[in-house]
Amino acid sequence: MTGKLVIGNWKMNTRADSARKLAAALLADAETNRDGVGIAAPAVYLAALGEQLQGSSIALSSQDVSRYAEDGAFTGEASAAMLADVGCRYALVGHSERRQYFGEDNAALLQKMRNAAAAGLIPVLCVGETLAQREAGSYKEVVAAQLAVLAELDAADCVIAYEPVWAIGTGKVATIEQIAEIHAFIKNWCLQNAAGSDKIRVLYGGSVKAENAEAILATKNVDGALVGGASLDADSFRVICQAAGKLI
Ligand code: PGA
Repeated sequence: MTGKLVIGNWKMNTRADSARKLAAALLADAETNRDGVGIAAPAVYLAALGEQLQGSSIALSSQDVSRYAEDGAFTGEASAAMLADVGCRYALVGHSERRQYFGEDNAALLQKMRNAAAAGLIPVLCVGETLAQREAGSYKEVVAAQLAVLAELDAADCVIAYEPVWAIGTGKVATIEQIAEIHAFIKNWCLQNAAGSDKIRVLYGGSVKAENAEAILATKNVDGALVGGASLDADSFRVICQAAGKLI
């Protein structure tokens, strides 16, 4: 895929009816129903959305994937094979909310990356530092430590989403200079440490909105966006996708 990738992360929002309506609005619009646009929906709605999006250009993504690959006694889990079975193409892995509230560490995330890839899903590894880490000046070390799982993979057909925790859902956006700096750092880290690194796309996430999308997406080494809050509104998400579509 060339061009920018925009994935809407619905998080723990919507109900069956509102999810269907939001997807219908995206399907009906050429700016959102095209290659390079995806939605990461709550697990319970993935099967229905997989059917609804069938034959469309919108890619379906899960928000997580089990660290366990095989069927069995893992109550509450959804395996990579199950996610692929209902039509997912991407799987978010290690979102900061998963790291923070569910204690996900690199060992678990490596399993998740491996399972997603083995099932034919493209994992989207989320990385990013907290405000304290940013202010302490250790953000590059933090991000490098999170990226370290990629060095363990043989072939890294994956996407990275850089999302500073302090910019997620806060309305605070990293400056263009901050985004450019860390994206260059991530690309460079990948070139030195990850197999297949020239193909790895790096998305920015954290309070991406209709108003700031174009400037962020036009920043060097930004290959797309992971959009939370603004992806729940079809009109806002459309503007973000439109901005992405204009850029190479
Ligand atoms: P936000 O979330 O756009 O609401 O800040 C981004 C994300 O967490 O993926």
